[in-house]
Amino acid sequence: MRFAAALCLVVPFFATAQTPNTYVGSTTCRTCHPDVWLNFNKNPHYKSIASGKETPAKTGCEGCHGPGGNHVAAKGGKATIGAFSEFSPSQKLDACLSCHSKDVNRAGVRHSAHTEADVVCSDCHSIHKSPTPKFLLAKPQIQLCYTCHATVRGQFEMPSKHRVNEGAIQCSDCHNPHGNVAPNWRTGTSSRLIATSHDNEQPCLKCHVDKRGPFVYEHASVRVEGCETCHAPHGSPNARLLRRPVVFTLCLECHNGAGTFGRQNAGVRLQSASHNLLDPKYQRCTTCHVRIHGSNSDERFLR
Ligand code: HEC
Ligand code: HEC
Ligand code: HEC
Ligand code: HEC
Ligand code: HEC
Ligand code: HEC
Ligand code: HEC
Ligand code: HEC
Ligand code: HEC
Ligand code: HEC
Repeated sequence: MRFAAALCLVVPFFATAQTPNTYVGSTTCRTCHPDVWLNFNKNPHYKSIASGKETPAKTGCEGCHGPGGNHVAAKGGKATIGAFSEFSPSQKLDACLSCHSKDVNRAGVRHSAHTEADVVCSDCHSIHKSPTPKFLLAKPQIQLCYTCHATVRGQFEMPSKHRVNEGAIQCSDCHNPHGNVAPNWRTGTSSRLIATSHDNEQPCLKCHVDKRGPFVYEHASVRVEGCETCHAPHGSPNARLLRRPVVFTLCLECHNGAGTFGRQNAGVRLQSASHNLLDPKYQRCTTCHVRIHGSNSDERFLR
C-alpha cells in the first residue's frame, strides 16, 4: 500500500523534469539503496515511515538528505542529493540540528570544544551502521571516546580511579559531549565539556550525594573551586584520587597565609599555633578535620 502511494508521488515528478526539486518519499529510495533499507526499520528515524505518516520534508530519508526528486530523475549521483560525504562539518551540524536543536542545545553545541575542533554529529553517531541501536553511536561509547582521547585511558588505569575501563561508569556520567547548555558553576574557566546535573551542580554530586550539602559550615574550596581542586577526577597514583600524595601539602596550597581574601581579609586562614607541623600527627590534617567537605556542627570541620 505504502509503496504504491509513494509511486504516485514519483510519477508527477518524472513528468516535470529537473527543477524545482521535489520530495518523493522514502519508499522510492528502496529500489536503489536496498542495503540502507535493510536495517533502517530498527532506526529511531524510521518511526514516521513505519506509521505511514511520513511528511518527507520533515521525516524519513529526505528529512536528512533533502529532496530526492532530481536525484531519482538522474538515477543517482552525489551531486543531486544531500550527500554527507560531500558536506562540510558545519553543513552536517546544520542538517542534524534542523530537528535536534531541542535535545541537543544549539547554543551549547556551537560553542563546544568538539564543534570548534570540527568534530560534529556524524563523527560520533552513525545513522546507518551503528553497532549500538541506543543513541546510534558509531562505536560503543568507551571505544568511541578513546579513538580520539587515547591518553585518557591510562588515567583510568591508575591505582585510585573511577572504574570507567571496567564499565562501571561512563564518560558521559561526567561529560556532555554536546557541550554545555549554559556556563556551568565555574563560569569563566574552561568548561571541559563537564556535564551539569540539576541546579547546575557538579556532576560528581549526583553519585556522591553525601557531599552535596548544603552544610551549615561550608568549606569554600569545595563549593567555589570544585571537587577537582583536590581530586583528579579520572585517576591518581594517590589514595582517594587525591592530587597530592600527602594530604597536608594539598591543604597548605591554600592555607599558607597568602592573599587578602577570606573572613579576616588575611587570605585563607593558617592553621593555628597549636598545629606543630614537625609533629607527624599534625600532618594528617583529615584525621582531625574529618568533615573536610563541609560540616553541620563545627566551623572547623572537626566533626
Ligand atoms: C537521521 C539522518 C539520516 C536519515 C534519516 C537517513 N540518512 Fe542516509 N546518511 C546519513 C548520514 C549522516 C550519512 C553519512 C554516513 C554515516 O554517518 O552513516 C548517510 C549516508 C547515506 C548513504 C551513503 C552510503 C552510506 O551508507 O554511507 C546513502 C545511500 C543513504 N544515506 C541513503 C539513505 C536512505 C535511502 C535513507 C532512508 C531509508 C536514509 N539515508 C536516511 C543520515 C541519514
Ligand atoms: C534510480 C536509483 C536511485 C534512487 C531511486 C535513489 N538513489 Fe540515491 N544514489 C543512487 C546512485 C547510483 C548513487 C551514487 C552512488 C555513488 O556515487 O557512490 C546514489 C547516491 C546517494 C547518496 C550519496 C551517498 C554518499 O556517497 O554520500 C545519498 C545520500 C542517496 N543516494 C540517497 C538517496 C535517497 C534519500 C533516495 C530516495 C529519495 C535515493 N537515494 C534514491 C541511486 C539512486
Ligand atoms: C527530519 C528530522 C530529523 C533529522 C534531520 C535528524 N533526526 Fe535524529 N531523530 C529524529 C526523530 C524524530 C528521532 C526519534 C525520537 C524518538 O524516538 O523519540 C530521532 C532520534 C535520533 C537519535 C536517537 C536518540 C535516542 O534516544 O536513542 C539520535 C542519536 C539521532 N536522532 C541523531 C541524529 C543525527 C546525528 C542526525 C544528523 C545526521 C539526525 N539525528 C537528524 C529526527 C531527526
Ligand atoms: C563527541 C561525540 C558526539 C558528538 C560530536 C555528538 N554526539 Fe550525540 N551523543 C554522543 C553520546 C556519547 C551520546 C550518549 C550519551 C549518553 O549515553 O547519555 C549521545 C546522545 C545523543 C542523543 C540522544 C540523547 C540525548 O542527549 O538527547 C541525540 C539525539 C544526539 N546525541 C544527537 C546529536 C546531534 C544532533 C549531534 C550534532 C549536533 C551530536 N549528537 C553530536 C556523542 C556525540
Ligand atoms: C573524532 C574525534 C573525537 C571523538 C570521537 C571524541 N572527541 Fe572529545 N575532543 C576531540 C577534539 C579534537 C577536542 C578538542 C581538542 C582537545 O581539547 O583535545 C576534544 C575535546 C574534548 C574535551 C574537552 C577538552 C578540553 O580541554 O576542554 C572533552 C572533555 C572531550 N573531548 C570528551 C570526549 C568524550 C567524553 C567523548 C566520547 C563521548 C569524546 N570526547 C569523543 C575529539 C574527539
Ligand atoms: C568522574 C567524572 C569523570 C569521568 C567518568 C570522565 N571524566 Fe573526563 N574530566 C572530568 C573532569 C572534572 C575534568 C576536568 C579536569 C580539570 O579541569 O582539571 C575532565 C577532563 C577531561 C578532559 C580534558 C583534560 C584532560 O585530562 O585531557 C578530557 C579530554 C576528558 N576529560 C575525557 C574523558 C573521557 C574520554 C572519559 C571516558 C573515557 C572521561 N573523560 C571520563 C571528569 C570525568
Ligand atoms: C556515576 C557515578 C559517579 C560520578 C558521576 C562520580 N563518581 Fe566518584 N565514585 C563513584 C564510585 C562508584 C566510586 C567507587 C570507586 C569505584 O569502585 O569505582 C567513586 C569513587 C570516588 C572517589 C574515591 C573514593 C575512595 O574511597 O577511594 C573519589 C575521591 C571520587 N569518587 C570523587 C569524584 C569526583 C570528584 C567526581 C566528579 C568529578 C565524581 N567522583 C563523580 C561514582 C561516581
Ligand atoms: C579541599 C580539598 C577537597 C575538595 C575540594 C574535595 N575533597 Fe573530597 N576529599 C578530600 C580529602 C583530603 C579526602 C580524604 C579524606 C580522608 O582521607 O579521610 C577526600 C575524600 C573524598 C572521598 C572518599 C571518602 C569519603 O569521604 O567519602 C570522596 C568520595 C570525595 N572526597 C568526593 C569529593 C567530591 C564529590 C567533592 C566535590 C563536591 C570533593 N570530594 C571535594 C579533599 C577534598
Ligand atoms: C583551594 C584552596 C583550599 C584548599 C586546597 C583547602 N582549603 Fe581549607 N579553606 C579554604 C578557604 C577559602 C576557607 C575559608 C577561609 C575563610 O573564610 O576565612 C577554608 C576553611 C578551612 C577551615 C575552617 C577554618 C576557617 O578558617 O574557616 C578548615 C579547618 C580548613 N579549611 C581545613 C583545610 C584542610 C584540612 C585542607 C586539606 C585537606 C584544606 N582546608 C584545603 C581553602 C582551601
Ligand atoms: C590533631 C588534630 C588536628 C590535626 C591533625 C590538624 N588540625 Fe587543624 N585544628 C585542630 C583543632 C582542634 C583546631 C581548633 C583549635 C585550634 O585552633 O587549634 C584546628 C583548627 C584549624 C584551622 C582554623 C584555625 C583558626 O584560626 O580557627 C585550620 C585552618 C586548620 N586547623 C587547618 C589544618 C591543616 C591544614 C592541617 C594539616 C596540616 C590540620 N589543621 C591538622 C586539630 C587538628
